[in-house]
Amino acid sequence: MEGCRLGAACDFSRGMTMGGKEELLERLKKAEGHWVSGEMLSGKMSITRTAVWKYICKLRDEGYEIKSAPRKGYLLHRIPDRLLPREVRSGLGTKAFGQGEIIHFSETDSTNSRAKELAGQGIPEGTIVLAERQTGGRGRRGRSWFSPDGSGLYVSLILRPEVVPAEAPMITLMTAVAVCDALVPYLPLPPRVKWPNDILAGGRKIAGILTEISTEPDAIDYVVVGLGLNVNVPARQFPKGIRDKATSILVETGKTHSRAAILRSFLENLERSYALFREGRVPLVLDRWRSYAGISRQCVRVDQVGRVLTGEIQDIDEDGSLLLRDERGHLHHIVSGDVYYL
Ligand code: BTN
Repeated sequence: MEGCRLGAACDFSRGMTMGGKEELLERLKKAEGHWVSGEMLSGKMSITRTAVWKYICKLRDEGYEIKSAPRKGYLLHRIPDRLLPREVRSGLGTKAFGQGEIIHFSETDSTNSRAKELAGQGIPEGTIVLAERQTGGRGRRGRSWFSPDGSGLYVSLILRPEVVPAEAPMITLMTAVAVCDALVPYLPLPPRVKWPNDILAGGRKIAGILTEISTEPDAIDYVVVGLGLNVNVPARQFPKGIRDKATSILVETGKTHSRAAILRSFLENLERSYALFREGRVPLVLDRWRSYAGISRQCVRVDQVGRVLTGEIQDIDEDGSLLLRDERGHLHHIVSGDVYYL
């Protein structure tokens, strides 16, 4: 465990220069399931056999299964199914997202809450907060997000876009596009996005996005984009209240999948969408969003605080709001609410 600003139990890692433990792990990985002798490791790394053994013990403590045998040496048998920063970063094809700090919790109440604390302390754009499990995962409109241990992605990303606050809703839509792009190779049918932040697979919710923003009068201080994605959650594990509405990649495919690989793909896609957004190429992002939404002319009910609207979806506006024509022909620009297909 490295120095952690958040006090609680977390791994806190920067794009690191390779220490002895990291180098040893790289060497074991490169051996691709073959034995590597302790003598060879100590020679190549210019450290004692005792130091090699100490690093092996540390890696085992982190969950790496490493076999050892006299006269054979060491063999990396299994990488832990945890979102350890070094495993997330390995093969990550981004320029910024996830290349700086990745803060990993075995457990926290909400990664969005942790990310907001860090953002308030000035941590740079692209920082990521991850948890294996959340005890108080938050959804939109005061809802909770079911966050069981080791089977979902609970990730929050800090952004500092140089745009006016009115443009912030686009960030949720852009994130939804990135989630869908990342999910396409994993699902038998393309995912669908339901305005503003639900991602559906087979008609059930597989992911949700919680975007939280801190603004100054004319500028954004920071945005925390939180993603909850059900990856390896078995159907029976969902609580009764959401069992008929929720799904996971495991439920849709019958197979478990690498959370780290899906996270990498999400970050790569999000960085691309974010670049388009910052270059002012919002129509491109909106077109991709429309292709996943298939919303035109859908009849819906929209529940908002204090009122319910029904009507036909016309489109999505340049600012990310939903355009709805009610039964009397009035056009509404909806900026928040829950959509139900009729
Ligand atoms: C929703 O569908 O209402 C949004 C759900 C967002 C859940 C994610 S999990 C990671 C991040 N931390 C939170 O507390 N919430 C978001």
